[in-house]
Amino acid sequence: MTTIDLSTQIAGIHLDSYLMNASGPKCTTWDELLVIGKSASAAIVTKSCTLEFREGNPEPRYSDLPLGSIQSMGLPNLGYKAYLEMVPELKALGKPVVVSISGFSIEENSEMVTAFQNSDVDLIEVNFSCPNIPGKAQVAYDFEQTESALAALTKLGNKPIGIKLAPYFDMSHFIAIANIIKKFPVKFITCVNSIGNTLIIDPETEQPIIKPKGGFGGLCGDYIKPIGLANVRAFRELLDDSVQIIGVGGIKNGTDAFEYLLAGADAVQIATCFEKEGAVCFARIENELKAFMAKKGYNKLSDAKGKLKPL
Ligand code: DHB
Repeated sequence: MTTIDLSTQIAGIHLDSYLMNASGPKCTTWDELLVIGKSASAAIVTKSCTLEFREGNPEPRYSDLPLGSIQSMGLPNLGYKAYLEMVPELKALGKPVVVSISGFSIEENSEMVTAFQNSDVDLIEVNFSCPNIPGKAQVAYDFEQTESALAALTKLGNKPIGIKLAPYFDMSHFIAIANIIKKFPVKFITCVNSIGNTLIIDPETEQPIIKPKGGFGGLCGDYIKPIGLANVRAFRELLDDSVQIIGVGGIKNGTDAFEYLLAGADAVQIATCFEKEGAVCFARIENELKAFMAKKGYNKLSDAKGKLKPL
């Protein structure tokens, strides 16, 4: 059988494969990050961190759904200093380390970006799209704030910075965000985060199925795959090829991963499927993607990347 090469790069950082975990499930504690390190995930991505340790929102704050999940975790994490201290041991696991940061202001994000700029992490993903903090708007839906945050955060060092974007639903918003990104040395974008503030109701109990924010939470999984694909596609067409795109949203098998490749993703992240299936999902999806590409006669990502055919 021909060997299929799934190696790729994000901001010049080599990845042995196209698949990694998403900042989200099972990447908060050292033990969880170790499991990712030992899996086929091409990188170790941490849970979004804040200045201080956070317990997160009251439970129940996550629920499986037939076609995905809904969550309102509320940024439970160890506080950024704990991840900073873990960097040498995470790096020793032999793959790139991506830290996700999610401060509550430009000042907080500046403090964390500066700290990680002075560490050995490979990539810094700044999360502009957490929907689950009561009273806090998503930065990614506030274009002025997105611009001022990028102006401040992209001048704090030479390590590549990327941003995790919210899903957009209007062409004017794709264009507005792409034009802001073009003003700064943003090296990659990760899209999409969950669709924020959705509501699942249990008709038997007559209650929402998660507790925080009256039941409003981020929708994930199969439900959001068409939205993730559209966001990757739109930004691939609007941004220069020097900005890599990491696709996220509803990838649970090899053909999902291939669809994101056609849309133009340089790599993809797995969240809900990893939550439900565990770390074996990375090798399984990798093998499925390789088998699908082999069947098509493709042997490397560039054979199909961005090559969605017009109808
Ligand atoms: C959380 C959810 C998100 O979608 C995100 O980007 C960051 C944090 C959370 O609730 O913990």
